[in-house]
Amino acid sequence: MFIYRARVFDTPTDPFAGGTLRSGSDVAIVVAEGLIIARTDYASAVAEHPDAEVVDLRAGVLIPGLIDTHVHYPQVRAIGYLGKPLLEWLDHCALPEEAKLADEAYASAVAGEFLAGLTSAGTTSAMVFGSHFATAMDTFFSQAAEVGLRITSGLVTSDKILPEPLLTSVEQSVSESQGLIDRWHGNGRLRFAITPRFSFSAGEELLAAGGQLLADNPRVWVTSHLNENRDEIAGVAAMFPEALDYLDTYDRAGLLGRRTILAHNVHPSDRELARMAEVGAASAHCPTSNSNLASGFFPLRRHIEAGVRVALGSDVGAGTGFSLLKEGVQAYFMQQLDPSGGLPLSSAHLLHLATAAGAEALELGDEVGDLSVGKRFDAAYISPAAHQPLDVGIRHASSDEDVLAKIFAMGTPADITRVWVDGQLVKGGGAPTPR
Ligand code: GUN
Ligand code: ZN
Repeated sequence: MFIYRARVFDTPTDPFAGGTLRSGSDVAIVVAEGLIIARTDYASAVAEHPDAEVVDLRAGVLIPGLIDTHVHYPQVRAIGYLGKPLLEWLDHCALPEEAKLADEAYASAVAGEFLAGLTSAGTTSAMVFGSHFATAMDTFFSQAAEVGLRITSGLVTSDKILPEPLLTSVEQSVSESQGLIDRWHGNGRLRFAITPRFSFSAGEELLAAGGQLLADNPRVWVTSHLNENRDEIAGVAAMFPEALDYLDTYDRAGLLGRRTILAHNVHPSDRELARMAEVGAASAHCPTSNSNLASGFFPLRRHIEAGVRVALGSDVGAGTGFSLLKEGVQAYFMQQLDPSGGLPLSSAHLLHLATAAGAEALELGDEVGDLSVGKRFDAAYISPAAHQPLDVGIRHASSDEDVLAKIFAMGTPADITRVWVDGQLVKGGGAPTPR
């Protein structure tokens, strides 16, 4: 049993619905076998649990583990190509790299780099866009199980447009996906997601086969891309003349529900937002990717007003790295700059988008997303090196909201020195923590 004594920030009440930042400068979080069993003052915690090991984290700030709702495992080596819009970026930067994961040893190395990128950035749960190769997915799931992160992921499928080595058939996609579901879905903290790459590269039968797979395995997840780029949207409209819109290409295939997360949705129609709200599908907002690929301004206000759930995604590798702190501040910048009227965001909004909103989108809200009693202890400890600008900023900030704003403005993975999933250290801290 552990008592984590810390300055703690989290957002158990939604700032988009009138909630505020919950902050305490000396909070004792008592954790037994990964479960938060008490949240109190230090003296009471020690009196109640005199045998617990005390971990003093008062020098920094403890926040809930970050939750990334859209990040591509095969693109870790493709981060940092600048200056191309989506379709050219895919052709020249992402897809040639993704083809290399046909080689199992290559995929295994990339999976290790990817998981290290997540844990290093303080990400403890993620919806991971997978690989087109089933062998690469087995490698990925098996390494993710070892690290212990809460990962939802699946085999990416496409049957047109992309380079030939990345294409599959309806039969192959179903048999490989079903095999992966049988091996990995519900295995520890892993879950499977049916993952057509996007309707631009998936024909009607392939999408429908995904819908059938979902009907056969109703507990699995669905993820894909939606309304990211104007040329992509025009292409999808031409390919699916009978569909009402881009969203409808997934809807007609039976792929929409509360367990569906769609990345980007930068250019939705009102009908699409209303339909997403009706079925409970969530949008993964990926601000650095939207900026890098010049995809556009994410209509956060319209999502909120329509009642569509939104969380953050890094969209590695079109996004510029694994840091959800960076995604948060970029979301803030873009809302400010949106010529059609963005939503002013506070630091509490950013923390919520990077933690509790992700937990909600992934239906993990009962387990993680904040540091309340009854939740699992998934947490990230931010403790910048002494005299660095973030350290100076934290020490001289006038309020907890300002401290949090500085963390988003200046924080990097290097400032996140310890990360726990279910009470287990996955980054930092020397010796592994006993359960
Ligand atoms: N749409 C289809 N594939 C991708 C991808 O890899 N990245 C992004 N940003 N959009 C996509
Ligand atoms: Zn993506």
